Amino acid sequence: MNINWYPGHMKKTKESIKKNLSLVDIVYELIDARIPWSSQNPEIDIILKNKPRLIIMNKSDLADDDTSERWQKYFNSKGITSVLVDCISNRGLNEVVNLSYVLTEEKRLQLAKKGIKNRPIRAMIVGIPNVGKSTLINSLSRKKGAKVSNKPGVTKKDQWIRIRKDLELLDTPGILWPKFEDKEVGLNLAFTGAIKDELLDIETLVIKLIERLSFISKACLEERYNIVVSNKSAYEILLEIGKKRGCVIRGGEIDTEKASNIVLDEFRKGIIGKITLEFPNS
Ligand code: G4P
Repeated sequence: MNINWYPGHMKKTKESIKKNLSLVDIVYELIDARIPWSSQNPEIDIILKNKPRLIIMNKSDLADDDTSERWQKYFNSKGITSVLVDCISNRGLNEVVNLSYVLTEEKRLQLAKKGIKNRPIRAMIVGIPNVGKSTLINSLSRKKGAKVSNKPGVTKKDQWIRIRKDLELLDTPGILWPKFEDKEVGLNLAFTGAIKDELLDIETLVIKLIERLSFISKACLEERYNIVVSNKSAYEILLEIGKKRGCVIRGGEIDTEKASNIVLDEFRKGIIGKITLEFPNS
């Protein structure tokens, strides 16, 4: 993913998002609830300026509930409203709709003063790759959606999707770049599957993941694999998981690559547990 972003590309992206921003009343900033910091674009505040913003913490089905709550409080302390969403079960979608009305109240009052009535609220989604932008568009539109015709100022390709009678969503999300100069962020994106596996050495990645999990969520790891984690290196833990899962090659040697794939897959699917990898400062 990272190698596709270069300065010219970022500039173009910003320009196209800026153009779309002028068409909407509110922005849905989609982030991954497991890595709220790492899945946020580094220039998001500059890009969105004072546009009403709703942070949608997606994939909340995979994140730790208490930590998600802490993140919500943190965003709140920065004056930003957030909502927990899970596009698989559609949890939180009604709240997205309701908060859209709340956060655009001022705009609606302005329009009413000018005598403009029945003008739907318009929203767009922005976020880094793989946070679930397309899934969210589908979930919101499948529920109530119907495409509506093009309007002046909107390019032919772009369409508005009607979510409610008075709420429309731009069907093209703004794809933003991550904070890829930061190594920790790169790892978090890789753990959660936002970076393509072919670019990475799975075993090295999983060793790092196990190090993190044995620190953040030792109990989940021990319970899932029926192992004891304390006083063991991540590599030893991986070997033990391999043994428990029958990842053995000729001569009794542990197939660490196979074991690594199991751990990574089970982490990404939330089978090891609902685990958040980073925590707010306060
Ligand atoms: P994008 O447009 O932002 O790039 O993301 P997209 O909707 O394609 O979603 C990326 C992956 O995340 C998809 O998995 C999608 O099913 C999954 N996803 C989206 N929302 C949620 C959610 O709330 N909870 C969970 N658990 N998963 C969600 P995928 O098709 O398997 O793609 P991939 O993981 O193989 O990339």
